[in-house]
Amino acid sequence: MAPSILFLGFLALSFSCALASDPSSLQDFCVADGDSNVIVNGLACKDPKNVQASHFSFSGLHLAGNTSNGVGSKVTAVNAVQIPGLNTLGISVARIDYAPYGINPPHTHPRASEILTVLEGSLEVGFVTSNPGNRLVTKVLQKGDVFVFPVNLVRFQRNVGKSNAVALAALSSQNPGAITIANAVFGTNPEIPDDILAKAFQLDKNVVNFLQSKF
Ligand SMILES: *[C@@H]1O[C@H](CO)[C@@H](O)[C@H](O)[C@H]1NC(C)=O
Repeated sequence: MAPSILFLGFLALSFSCALASDPSSLQDFCVADGDSNVIVNGLACKDPKNVQASHFSFSGLHLAGNTSNGVGSKVTAVNAVQIPGLNTLGISVARIDYAPYGINPPHTHPRASEILTVLEGSLEVGFVTSNPGNRLVTKVLQKGDVFVFPVNLVRFQRNVGKSNAVALAALSSQNPGAITIANAVFGTNPEIPDDILAKAFQLDKNVVNFLQSKF
């Protein structure tokens, strides 16, 4: 009896490890309590008696983000930070604005798959499969087109139209996280030693130092 229970335990464990989104809820909701000092995986719950509609709501996603920056895009994230009621629910959204020829630079979301809908303009999008293939999967999208970026893979978007572009991204985590490749490599604090980056990227150290100065 005991060994089979043990086996079932392992089976359950291996299934729970294979989940590619946030853990499912054990109650109707768990509105994040911003005042709690309790550290848990996610955020501690408010007393349900004190929960109101405003905890499930956000306003302003009709407003364009400011794309006057080096990459020409702006992400307006709406996750459990902006909507405390998203805590434990495993979903979130983001509005992305792109100036003409602006890019959302190569990045990953460590905790979420992403489904992106183009609301205005034309976007060239892509993601890269993991080693050793590193195949670039890419497509040009028009208004109304939808594209999926699998969890964790490096992805980007570029506005290939002559006017502003807007996209709405839905993500399978209340807190998808973002790792922008350039910043996570050349803009760390403290810096990754330049000889490591020089070898990794097969570059001269001066080039590495120049790139580090940019981030
Ligand atoms: C957009 O951002 C730029 C750069 O930070 C700033 O100079 C500009 O005032 C901002 N524009 C608006 C409308 O907020």
